[in-house]
Amino acid sequence: MKIILLASNPNLYSNLRIVEAAKKRGHEVEFVNVGECYIKVASSACEIFYDEGKKLENVDHVIPRIKPAMTFYGTSIIRQFEVMGVNCLNGSEAITKSRDKLYTLQILAQHGLNVPITSFANSSYDTKDLIKLVGSAPLVVKLLEGTKGVGVVLAETNKAAESVINAFRSLKADILVQHYIKESKGQDIRCFVVGGKVIASMERTAQEGEFRANIHLGATAKAIDVTPEESELAIKAAKVIGLEIAGVDMVRSSSGPKILEVNSSPGLEGIESATGIYIAAKMIEYLEGK
Ligand SMILES: Nc1ncnc2c1ncn2[C@@H]1O[C@H](COP(=O)(O)OP(=O)(O)O)[C@@H](O)[C@H]1O
Ligand SMILES: [Mg+2]
Repeated sequence: MKIILLASNPNLYSNLRIVEAAKKRGHEVEFVNVGECYIKVASSACEIFYDEGKKLENVDHVIPRIKPAMTFYGTSIIRQFEVMGVNCLNGSEAITKSRDKLYTLQILAQHGLNVPITSFANSSYDTKDLIKLVGSAPLVVKLLEGTKGVGVVLAETNKAAESVINAFRSLKADILVQHYIKESKGQDIRCFVVGGKVIASMERTAQEGEFRANIHLGATAKAIDVTPEESELAIKAAKVIGLEIAGVDMVRSSSGPKILEVNSSPGLEGIESATGIYIAAKMIEYLEGK
């Protein structure tokens, strides 16, 4: 098979592993910098170019790993591959949905999947109500399009929450306000879903004095066996967002697991080292089965 890894940095652990796994399994694989692709749209033929006029053709599969800063450009290029009939793991629409935390939560809620109560508003006149809708402090304020824990803030009091919300707003940042699941005690669960199956799961524990369990913020990770309920929730979440590859993040609350977000380019390093599972190879195996 001819596989293109569509990403930005060829030296990232996840990208190195995917290229290595594809080669090991005997496939032709090329790293393509998404930012250097350009396209022609015409009813006669849609085309993608790269590297000073080289045409990207006869591609069987594209594995996109689009960084957040490239979401718009990256999904436009993925869409072009889709228009040309090339299978993309994941598709452009699903990536777009997963990049917006509110959009994701709306879809999950629409399908009856558990999420923390979340509110969203435009006007500062509604700040007090925004807080009331999710209960009261402590509560979480987050950027709609943040990643790696950056832009996720815990407000301990209603006054602090109001200040944080209005500060974000004055910077014209889109934010959501969320019920804080304090029972999670700085831990969350990442389920790695490939083709409708949870192939690996880990529990992450935040650093001392921190509530965000992001590995980039120093959290530690260990392999765990999730419950059947958690596994089913992760599979359903990936399905309703439309992702074949997904990192589904959830927290354990007193009323069961609640999904925080669904990542369309989940990192491989943390979960491969915590679980010892060669996830990149599982992704390629999945492509072979398609
Ligand atoms: N509502 C919440 N209740 C408890 N902990 C939360 C909540 N929201 C986020 N967290 C913690 O903060 C981390 C980062 O939040 P998340 O929504 O996943 O943003 P990011 O995309 O930046 O990772 C989560 O992994 C979790 O540990
Ligand atoms: Mg997260």
